[in-house]
Amino acid sequence: MKILMAASEATPLAKTGGLADVVHALSKELVGLNHDVAIVLPYYDSIRQRVMNHVELVQSFPVYLSWRSEICQVYKTEIDGILYYLLGNYQYFGRENFYGYHDDHERFAFFSLAIRILLKEIDFKPDIIHCHDWQVGMLPVLIREQNQHDPFFQDIRFIMTIHNPAFQGLGDPKILGDYYSLDRRLFDEGKVRFKGVLSTLKSGIIYADKITTVSMTHANELMTKEEGQGLETIMELRKSDFVGILNGIDYTEFNPAKDEAIPYNYNKVTVLKGKEENKKALYQKLHLRNNGKPLFGLVSRLTWQKGLDILLEAAHVILNAGANLVILGSGEAVYEQQFEKIRQEHPDQMALYIGYHESLAHEIYAASDIFLMPSLFEPCGIGQMIALRYGALPLVRMTGGLKDTVIPYTLDNREVANGFGFYQYDGSALKDTISWALQCFQNPSLIRVLRRNAMSANNNWKKSAEQYVSLYLSAKEK
Ligand code: ADP
Ligand code: GLC
Repeated sequence: MKILMAASEATPLAKTGGLADVVHALSKELVGLNHDVAIVLPYYDSIRQRVMNHVELVQSFPVYLSWRSEICQVYKTEIDGILYYLLGNYQYFGRENFYGYHDDHERFAFFSLAIRILLKEIDFKPDIIHCHDWQVGMLPVLIREQNQHDPFFQDIRFIMTIHNPAFQGLGDPKILGDYYSLDRRLFDEGKVRFKGVLSTLKSGIIYADKITTVSMTHANELMTKEEGQGLETIMELRKSDFVGILNGIDYTEFNPAKDEAIPYNYNKVTVLKGKEENKKALYQKLHLRNNGKPLFGLVSRLTWQKGLDILLEAAHVILNAGANLVILGSGEAVYEQQFEKIRQEHPDQMALYIGYHESLAHEIYAASDIFLMPSLFEPCGIGQMIALRYGALPLVRMTGGLKDTVIPYTLDNREVANGFGFYQYDGSALKDTISWALQCFQNPSLIRVLRRNAMSANNNWKKSAEQYVSLYLSAKEK
């Protein structure tokens, strides 16, 4: 099959979170299964600024946002057997960040409109267009509404994957006409209307042939009023075409035995020494004292989804026990400031790096004993799977994909447990679980078993990629 991934992020070119990991790693696995895969991304300034000789400008064309015309420059490169098409327009994408601008709707409308043109310009007619998240939710709408009589588009099928239901692409319905030249009727009839405004995410869910989210548990959560983030009635409507497929991680990129970003490579057998050495190096780099207690790590977008308010309440349990805490992340200023305040009170035990830092993330996974993900919600979570692979025991709230990948230790499940978990979203549940983990760390033989279990977990992409292939085939049969 020929599969086009339409997304706003993909490693190694553009990443703020797990979406980027998934789009690349799934594509790579599909290439391994002999499918032709292309990924189309915006040509962000950060990609442009890298020294990438092999990125070539292949063509340009005008894109009409209603009556206005904007130029799209198409760049092309190939990574891991995947074709990357990078759609450039300096005004829209020549900026510091990927998102967070007042005109995000317009920027991704341009992107979606440009993808439709691109399809006819390149020698890659996909069987499947796999759309990821709200940024490209309008692509199936555009093609189904405006190109239904064009034979070129007729046998293309759309998959819509919901990575994060909190980002719903809400906007003024005027966007329909102003950017997409779509009739307001679609809004009035309710197809693209959500919470009284336009939602590009909901639109994608309604128009796609199949819909997925990134874990089985989150698929169930999305069907409930409590955790559906308002989407539950729409998911109910589409439930016969909706399925949860658990993400994996790229076992080549994340491999403590070969990772070049970490000072000391290790495997299941040498993990104890490996952790010690990586910890030593990290402490030296971050000016932390090594007092022989466990290291807690967190690598995350610093946002309300990630359970940081309860971690702020619970962090003192870690620090008062003499353990260390390293945080890498960026996001909402309030979290950055409050963690910085705690850090100043414990400068020898806590380090905080605000920003995005690929290799430091690897160093933290490699050095950490416990990896924190106390998320309020977590559709899948990539961090805990990387942590497992690096023998850092995940300490998580049992929600979404965390529930599908972490088996919390509960005294009687030593042979299978690979982390620590709690259910209730509050500071005291997290504090109790941190205390429990600290207590367990006083028993080295127990930790040895839990680490071995963690590092034996199989979260590669093989099974999930096969599930996607079956889904693509079933979409084609529709
Ligand atoms: P989300 O996609 O919701 O942010 P995931 O757990 O699915 O959460 O994926 C997060 C990914 O982004 C992981 O690969 C994690 O290591 C990485 N990551 C998050 N923040 C940073 C950061 N500040 N620097 C480097 N990597 C980061
Ligand atoms: C989203 C979710 C995260 C998931 C990632 C990749 O960012 O927050 O849980 O792992 O997408 O699917």
